[in-house]
Amino acid sequence: MSLSRRFASALAALALAASGLVLSSPTALALENGLLRVPPMGFNNWNSTQCKADFTEGMIKGIADLFVSKGLKDVGYTYVNIDDCWALPSRNSSGDLVPDPVRFPHGIKSLADYVHGKGLKFGIYTSAGTKTCNKAGFPGGLGHEQQDANLFASWGVDYLKYDNCNNQGVDAQQRYKAMRDALAKSGRPIAYSICEWGQNQPWTWAAPVGNLWRTTGDISDKWSSMIGKTQANRGLAQYAGPGHWNDPDMLEVGNGGMTTAEYRTHFGLWAMMAAPLLIGSDLRKVSEDDFAILKNTDVIALDQDPLGKQATVLSANAGLVVYSKVLANGDRAVALSNETASTATISTTASATGIGAAPSYTLKDLWSKGTRTTTGTINASVPSHATVLYRVSSSGGTRYEAESATLSAGGTVDSNHAGYSGTGFANGANAVGSSVEWQVTGPATAVTFGYANGTAAARPVDVSVDGTVVAAGVSFPPTGAWTTWSTVTRAVSLAAGAHTVRVTATTADGPANLDYLDLSR
Ligand code: GLA
Repeated sequence: MSLSRRFASALAALALAASGLVLSSPTALALENGLLRVPPMGFNNWNSTQCKADFTEGMIKGIADLFVSKGLKDVGYTYVNIDDCWALPSRNSSGDLVPDPVRFPHGIKSLADYVHGKGLKFGIYTSAGTKTCNKAGFPGGLGHEQQDANLFASWGVDYLKYDNCNNQGVDAQQRYKAMRDALAKSGRPIAYSICEWGQNQPWTWAAPVGNLWRTTGDISDKWSSMIGKTQANRGLAQYAGPGHWNDPDMLEVGNGGMTTAEYRTHFGLWAMMAAPLLIGSDLRKVSEDDFAILKNTDVIALDQDPLGKQATVLSANAGLVVYSKVLANGDRAVALSNETASTATISTTASATGIGAAPSYTLKDLWSKGTRTTTGTINASVPSHATVLYRVSSSGGTRYEAESATLSAGGTVDSNHAGYSGTGFANGANAVGSSVEWQVTGPATAVTFGYANGTAAARPVDVSVDGTVVAAGVSFPPTGAWTTWSTVTRAVSLAAGAHTVRVTATTADGPANLDYLDLSR
């Protein structure tokens, strides 16, 4: 977007704020280049090669080939990115960066073309300093922002990782905004990755500057490093969203320094945290077990969920950590993560995730693929350094508490008989025609009433939907005591959308005490 448009939208934001309509959503202030509405997925060579001799055009082409042949492209991996040490130590006489002719004999444009030819995207690296991080001292972008951005655009670059070394003490926001503006003027959409290591709390200022920002120093291929990055990143959920992500650094899965359980924890928690999934291993050497981790589509779906919410921490007690991530379809992803040295049971509840009351929930284990149902408890025995990942969905439909329903004259909401769900129950007037009415949202195939009837006689009702009786004289038999709760279920056919469900007593005793109405899909 042009500077004048940016200025105009800033003014509009100020005007809204002044008018009392506070723009609380950070999304409203995000970098508006339209890119990375979900976290980036792809590859970067750094974690496997650093600047060693195997970082070459041949390697990068091989990775692009494997993205296609191993099905990684099919599950969402898109960016093939190169890191430090791709250039010569000096710019040419025109001031342009020059690809190292030993590593990249055909230049960068030819490599980008090759990657594009596979239907993939290509990314490059430089530093917001006078030189990049490698001690050989490759030229950085500070003071050359527009020239370098234009060169990258001319090569077909789709993603820039912009590092922080040799920054000469120049203000970080100034340096990263300069490259943002240069990329915007380059004429090519280029995703912009700020690699400032969290030094100036970029989460507080970088949403309008970059598409993602590193929150930590460099990861290494060991448990202590990976879990340390997790701990630093997991409290920053409020700052992440479509187009602007926290980046706890690239993946180590497949590099050999962690166990399968630890790599699953790494991959699973990155997905929970809506972190970039940039493979950092040399895919030409990765085991099938590690491919299986990288290609777990249920876990990838958490990362790539279009709502773009980073998981929050529900509890963290002595290394036993529960995370919950809100998903676009209303499901929750729950991670039970064991950072300790021994197996432990980790527990939470459906209600703690905010999923909303339902008669039961389906838990899908995203590693074993097994499912089970629960009425609320979500727990597992979790081995040391492992993480159990569940996708939680309301399986029994939706619960509507009777205390939120509308009662006809004389009815009261009471709580004097224990055992009800929610905060109370509906005690309808003892009269023919006494009714309880719920506003519900279909679709549904059945209604279930929770009730208690402490008398010796059934308390029949007519059940109506949108004013039409669909079940007449439905019996609510005695339950033995007012504190003994039971259920009555009837099939109904509710289309999608809003409906009124009403029960109306047909005897002078009125209805039974009603606890809730469950709609089943
Ligand atoms: C910094 C970055 C790393 C990598 C190296 C390259 O350390 O944080 O991710 O890009 O530089 O030199």
